[in-house]
Amino acid sequence: METKIGTITLANNLVMAPMAGYTDWPFRKILGRFRCSLVVTEMIAAKPLAFGHGKTLRMLYNDRKHCALPAGIQIVGSDIPSLVKAAQKAQELEYDLIDLNAGCPAHKMIKSGAGSSLVRETFRLHKILAAMRKEIRIPFTLKMRIGWDENSINAAETAKIAEGEGVDAIFVHGRTRAAGYAGKVNLDGIRAVKQTVKIPVFGNGDVRDVASALNMFEKTGCDGLMIGRYAVEDPAIFDRIDAALAGRPVPPPPTLREKALLLRDICRELFAFYGDNIGSLRSRGALLFSMRGFPNASQMRKQITQLKGPAAFERFFDGLLAP
Ligand SMILES: Cc1cc2nc3c(=O)[nH]c(=O)nc-3n(C[C@H](O)[C@H](O)[C@H](O)COP(=O)(O)O)c2cc1C
Repeated sequence: METKIGTITLANNLVMAPMAGYTDWPFRKILGRFRCSLVVTEMIAAKPLAFGHGKTLRMLYNDRKHCALPAGIQIVGSDIPSLVKAAQKAQELEYDLIDLNAGCPAHKMIKSGAGSSLVRETFRLHKILAAMRKEIRIPFTLKMRIGWDENSINAAETAKIAEGEGVDAIFVHGRTRAAGYAGKVNLDGIRAVKQTVKIPVFGNGDVRDVASALNMFEKTGCDGLMIGRYAVEDPAIFDRIDAALAGRPVPPPPTLREKALLLRDICRELFAFYGDNIGSLRSRGALLFSMRGFPNASQMRKQITQLKGPAAFERFFDGLLAP
């Protein structure tokens, strides 16, 4: 189902979540093969983006010629001048929208007043959104948690502020900052957001298959889904959910061989983009995330942590793909 976020129209309502260490250019390029209609970069710190920094420049790479999948760039930060400057810079790049991170629970982020501390300090969030919106001419979205802790769930209020400041869509992870990634996703919190604002709301958290996707729609009334961990592990989850939503036959999950071939493509892209050192690090990360279901997975994980350089990864895949 086509979905609009501000001035852009997405081919369906399934979005790949920002995932630090994963949703970089090589992964986004591969994701273009699957039926998701938007992908968000890993979070990019506002200050280095605003003031130019070598490592950040690499994270910013996007090239519409080689991947037509629309992409959003996610900015994380707390200080208004840097966020505004970062938004100006982001706009000069080949991205379709800008997203603000109000969800990261990491201690370092909270200490600096960024990430999910913004759902606790909504007065600051309000000022930040207003200042950024003034500068941003492409669609602008907010990725948020439902609150700081169980005693301060304020998702609807936060979303209302965002809508009032001209945010074009909300991605809401149904957990509080205190919950981290543990416990069940609070679907009522997501529903409260949907019932409060008119802009599109994308439910996020623990969508792992067609059944949990349909359950998220049914229980929250959300307009679309944002999927993170289970899509890193198996990007074809988008094809299955898209088929189910469109009433087409749902394709079977990939075989282990298909998974291994896809992982090999991802690792090759990672090495081509980053070179040997960072390529090894990111490839190990991609593999470790995706070993569930393979025979001897725990032994293989140990083996993966030792892999270094493209030749070692190729040998690993030769072993995995051997008949
Ligand atoms: C390894 C990892 C990295 C993440 N990086 C980001 C990030 O950069 N920005 C962000 O907004 N959320 C980030 N998240 C949160 C996810 O986008 C998502 O909200 C969360 O994993 C819940 O959705 P899921 O159950 O579909 O994974 C990250 C989560 C994980 C596990």
